[in-house]
Amino acid sequence: MAKVLVVGSGAREHALAKAFLKSPQVDQVLVAPGNDGMQDAGLSRLPIKANDLQGLAQAAEEQGVDLTFVGNEDPLILGIVDEFEARGLKIFGPRAQQAQLEGSKTFAKEVLTANQIPTARAITVTSLVAAERALEKFDLPVVFKLDGLALGKGVTIIQDLDSAQRYLADLYQRDPEAKLVMEEFLSGVEFSIFSLVGKDGRVVHAPMAQDHKRRFDHDRGPNTGGMGAYSPLSWLPEKDAQQAISQLVEPLLAAMADRGLPFTGVLYTGVMLTDAGPKVIEFNVRFGDPEAQVVLPQLNSDFYQVIVDLLAGEQPQVDWQKGQVYLGVVLASPGYPEAPQPGAVVPSPADLPGLAVDYASVKAEDGHLVASGGRVATVIAHEADTLLAQEKVYQVLDQANLDLVYRHDIGHWAQDLAE
Ligand code: AMP
Ligand code: GLY
Repeated sequence: MAKVLVVGSGAREHALAKAFLKSPQVDQVLVAPGNDGMQDAGLSRLPIKANDLQGLAQAAEEQGVDLTFVGNEDPLILGIVDEFEARGLKIFGPRAQQAQLEGSKTFAKEVLTANQIPTARAITVTSLVAAERALEKFDLPVVFKLDGLALGKGVTIIQDLDSAQRYLADLYQRDPEAKLVMEEFLSGVEFSIFSLVGKDGRVVHAPMAQDHKRRFDHDRGPNTGGMGAYSPLSWLPEKDAQQAISQLVEPLLAAMADRGLPFTGVLYTGVMLTDAGPKVIEFNVRFGDPEAQVVLPQLNSDFYQVIVDLLAGEQPQVDWQKGQVYLGVVLASPGYPEAPQPGAVVPSPADLPGLAVDYASVKAEDGHLVASGGRVATVIAHEADTLLAQEKVYQVLDQANLDLVYRHDIGHWAQDLAE
């Protein structure tokens, strides 16, 4: 029987651990560092931080781990895959250089434009003078993105010239050489493609998903890490989905291989479906959170075997469920994202009958779980359509009478876009 290590501590990593535990070949899943809500049979935790690459590699050696899967981007960008591979340990993910697709917006943009892959027109600047000059080349609204990792907080949509000038003055006063990507604003419908990419060009595309990034109902309020997601996307015609794969994902993978940087791992393509066709908004090099929580449970095949096959350069047999919509709602601490106030009691799976629960920032205290950060859990239902899935989740949540906050309209796009 196989032992799998999942790196990370959120609800996405909980979903990954559960997907591996479903494999008949896996009897143990270790999660490093995990969280107190991860109490599933067969799951144990390692008290090692996700960024402690040496510590993780050493533990994988000592514990005889057969396969490591990384949930969050930081260890990938720091080179966890390089570290594991150097020690002959099996790990699924991109090396540090390939992870620059997420780690550096400038690198991603450069690969996209060099290969004529559709994306927003962009100019990268590193001084106030250059920024002011570049600003003249864009219509409003315009999008400003700070280079480097910013967990979605580095993106600002600028509506008017005054705000643009204030933003630039502030930024370059703080850091006179700040690297800023200035980008054309794309309007359209946003969705995400998750591609599991193996050696020798083997690829498995998962069902597509839509996240809800704004904090409040009707997509109002600040951007967050994601307040909920659903999948698959009933409103997205198969030909549009295929077009996004063939025009965005496949050319990117080919371009990386041509550069001598073949990509392995999860490629997350953030797509804007515009009037002029699909365009890339961003790449990430790992599953989305909360998207993983609604995508992974749809896999009927053995997840462990899928990953092992991909790493061996073999095309896996993959069967995804059809006919059900998976819908996940994120429960957060009041005040999230600006100033989350921890301490609320977090429901156990028994408190939420009929829903799956993937835990994130929680701590065990006096025999129950309490919130210890912003995003606390994702609760998931699956039903024959989005309306039924919404009804199910929200009925259970309303009855649970929680001190946590959540959006009440996750999945609304499925109805809006079907009309
Ligand atoms: P990112 O961190 O690049 O994923 O951006 C966060 C969010 O900002 C995206 O999910 C989009 O909703 C929005 N966004 C980013 N770039 C653009 C763009 N060029 N046009 C319109 N919206 C954008
Ligand atoms: N849900 C968005 C992300 O994981 O980046």
